[in-house]
Amino acid sequence: MEKKIKIAIYPGSFDPITNGHVDIINRASNLFDRLIITVASNNTKKALLSIDRRVDILNKTFSNKANIEIDYFNGLLVDYAIRKNVFTIVRGLRTLSDFEYEFRMAIINRNLDKRIETIFLMTDEKYSHISSSSIKEIYNLNGNINQFVPKTVSKTLCNLKNEKNNK
Ligand code: PNS
Repeated sequence: MEKKIKIAIYPGSFDPITNGHVDIINRASNLFDRLIITVASNNTKKALLSIDRRVDILNKTFSNKANIEIDYFNGLLVDYAIRKNVFTIVRGLRTLSDFEYEFRMAIINRNLDKRIETIFLMTDEKYSHISSSSIKEIYNLNGNINQFVPKTVSKTLCNLKNEKNNK
């Protein structure tokens, strides 16, 4: 019998990516033959980083992982999944409040296309308190974010601050 290649999509805002995301990505990339990390570019949340910068950070962070592809999308996630012909979506779960939101999103996506399956990975408890929003808040209030994010994010945000200060 022909062996199926297992591919999954890990979508998100990644504004910015945190150590919690990195942990989920590393674990998901061990479960699947190929993992596509895709940045949602039409999110209404107030963005800190441009899509280009987020994609660049992801490329740099996972440059050593041969089975990880970085991409971005506009519009509905299901339409992206159809374009890619990949119907498994990975999401991380941290808290009970995440569950409510994720449960709703998984059902909506399956209503939009019956082929979609969402698979959840529980966060490592080391990262259950970390969110992109808290990173943004700490950064905007001049706090130190280094312990919560990969080095690629710290460097980019440091450059961003220098660019702003030099204007
Ligand atoms: O990192 P986030 O912000 O929790 O990711 C949420 C994301 C980007 C996966 C979700 O908002 C999404 O899929 N957006 C694309 C638009 C869409 O398909 N919406 C319908 C699902 S409710």
